[in-house]
Amino acid sequence: MASPEVVQRVQSLRAEIEHHNHRYYVLDDPLIPDLEYDKLFRELSELEERYPELDDPNSPTKRVGGEPAEGFEQYEHALRMYSLDNAMTTDEWFAFTDRVTKGLGREDVEYWADPKMDGLAVEVVYENGRFAMAATRGDGLVGEVVSHNMRTVMNLPLVLRGSNIPTLLEVRGEVVMADADFERLNERQAAKGEKIFANPRNAAAGSVRQLDPKVAASRPLRFMAYGVGRVEGMPALFSWVSQEEIMLGLRELGFAVPPEARLCKSRQEVADYFNDLMERRASLPFEIDGVVAKVNKLEMQRALGFTSRAPRWALALKFPAQQASTRINSIRIQVGRTGVLTPVAELEPVRVGGVEVSRATLHNKAYIAENDFREGDTVVVQRAGDVIPQVVSVVEDKRPENTVPYDFPMTCPVCHSEAYEDGEAVRCSNDKCPAKVAKWLVHFVSKAGLDMEGVGRRWVEKLADEGKLSNPADLFTLRKTTLLQYEGMGDKSAENFIQSIDKARLEAPLWRLIAALGIRHVGEQTAKTLADTYEDLDALSLATREELQDLPDVGETVANSIREFFDGEAGKLLLEQFKAVDFWPKGGKSDAEGAKDLPLSGKTFIFTGSLPDMSRNQAHALVEERGGSAVKSISRKVDYVVAGEKAGSKVAKAEKLGLTIIDFDAFTDMIREGE
Ligand code: IVH
Repeated sequence: MASPEVVQRVQSLRAEIEHHNHRYYVLDDPLIPDLEYDKLFRELSELEERYPELDDPNSPTKRVGGEPAEGFEQYEHALRMYSLDNAMTTDEWFAFTDRVTKGLGREDVEYWADPKMDGLAVEVVYENGRFAMAATRGDGLVGEVVSHNMRTVMNLPLVLRGSNIPTLLEVRGEVVMADADFERLNERQAAKGEKIFANPRNAAAGSVRQLDPKVAASRPLRFMAYGVGRVEGMPALFSWVSQEEIMLGLRELGFAVPPEARLCKSRQEVADYFNDLMERRASLPFEIDGVVAKVNKLEMQRALGFTSRAPRWALALKFPAQQASTRINSIRIQVGRTGVLTPVAELEPVRVGGVEVSRATLHNKAYIAENDFREGDTVVVQRAGDVIPQVVSVVEDKRPENTVPYDFPMTCPVCHSEAYEDGEAVRCSNDKCPAKVAKWLVHFVSKAGLDMEGVGRRWVEKLADEGKLSNPADLFTLRKTTLLQYEGMGDKSAENFIQSIDKARLEAPLWRLIAALGIRHVGEQTAKTLADTYEDLDALSLATREELQDLPDVGETVANSIREFFDGEAGKLLLEQFKAVDFWPKGGKSDAEGAKDLPLSGKTFIFTGSLPDMSRNQAHALVEERGGSAVKSISRKVDYVVAGEKAGSKVAKAEKLGLTIIDFDAFTDMIREGE
């Protein structure tokens, strides 16, 4: 039996963890380092395991997803979840507001405007401040119970916050996935050979409508509240009288609400807000497809009422479509750096969202099969945010008679080796496939790699295609006479080519070589950290996961992918090949004993706010010249936080992490030390 102390401890742990979840997932402003959070979480899990009688479906430990549901139960919404009428133009918006002012018999109408988020509408019910159930919108009258999955949505409160807690509250909102999370999810899915989602909306909706909550728990879902259904028994003296108060109230209760939402004093302000948001659409973290404008005062909303399908007090102002239809002329297969065969549709050029698109991805073999895309088909193409254009669906009644289902090639189109299925991916089995090698080599010589200016990308591709280059080390064996055999290669170009290579051989710093290797997740910053720490590739190749993770900017994923590279046959071979061609840059502070005496050696800096008299890059260079390293993201590995003017949230975070914060003068004193 749990003692009163244990009961108390479990309750306080639950409250504390949920508080940290709120700081992290809703406010984006964590209070404690991950490790401390993990400790609290572990303590709670252990107590719950020891004292099963303290089980609670709303414990934060339940967010990882319990047992799968057997099927979806139906749920009848107490208040109908209406849909919205649309406006496509400002004129249509003004026509709507004319009806509003006429209906109300007054002109002074304010509107609450928020982004129309593109996800799945869900209603979440709270009883006495505790998550009771959640259901999809469905047809507005009846939806499906998805409580098991909604519990795993980390920014959704399981217990309401604050003191103004109604006895019954139905919160409505959209389950969405941020663009960046979506891209990472698709990368992860591709790597595991699992389903690729066409867009964040499908990914979010598919994840909520899953029987197994463990799947939903593994997806980065968020709930953005935009309104309420029933609200009963609110303790505050006055209950909410406007949309604005509802939104503020929901925020206080612990909900995330759409970013950018605001009160507009006139219909023109709404139109301006709409245009502004449309321009900034691509830079917002979420997909939005328009603006929703709602009459702000609830009293006015009640007076206006509903039509048979939508409120008379709210309207969706839709952005122009980011979709268009066009014909697939042919399907081409591209081979990537990791050997994955990616199908690409060559399209009859079409304008989508203001840009001409003549090519769009078909993702993989399964995506083509599921949708039955064929050469000659008319299809819907979509551009979403910054994402590469993609083919979404077939316009079936426009299918010409003579088309056949697409037969995905199981040989590599470049080297004709056999390809094999790896989950949903199809890969070329040949490690030496010229296409893989060419992509790798192009990266190797690019600005992100060794930055060999005189070595043109096209020539590298050509040399790789013809088998003259089969790995990066081969570059260092190229001779001018070989280059001059190619038509179009002049004496001057060949000279530049060879000179660039020689220059790299003599001068390339180790960090550039590390960045050039193309190890996943290792960019310039990480490469610099590694080169500062290890003397050469041999030393780096011996570093353990744990050692790597102790470095600033290196987490588990990065450490794993470094190990994977050096543990692989290709990685080991490459090191030998570099030695054989005498290309072996040195780095590290250990090779020059004197380096240890540099004033900032071993110290990690981060800069925030504006620095007098110098740019961020200059400050980084100063630190690095003196043996220190400078990073961009804050963590406990940082020794000094240099706060310039208007230093932002990093300082608050630094304080919480207990880091040393210094001003710019103290920093200049440090760099002058020993000079
Ligand atoms: S208000 C009665 N606000 O759009 C008012 N809806 O076409 C109901 N949606 O089913 C909706 N963002 O899923 C509202 N900021 C927002 C929204 C939003 C997205 C969705 C919602 C609704 C659909 C209506």
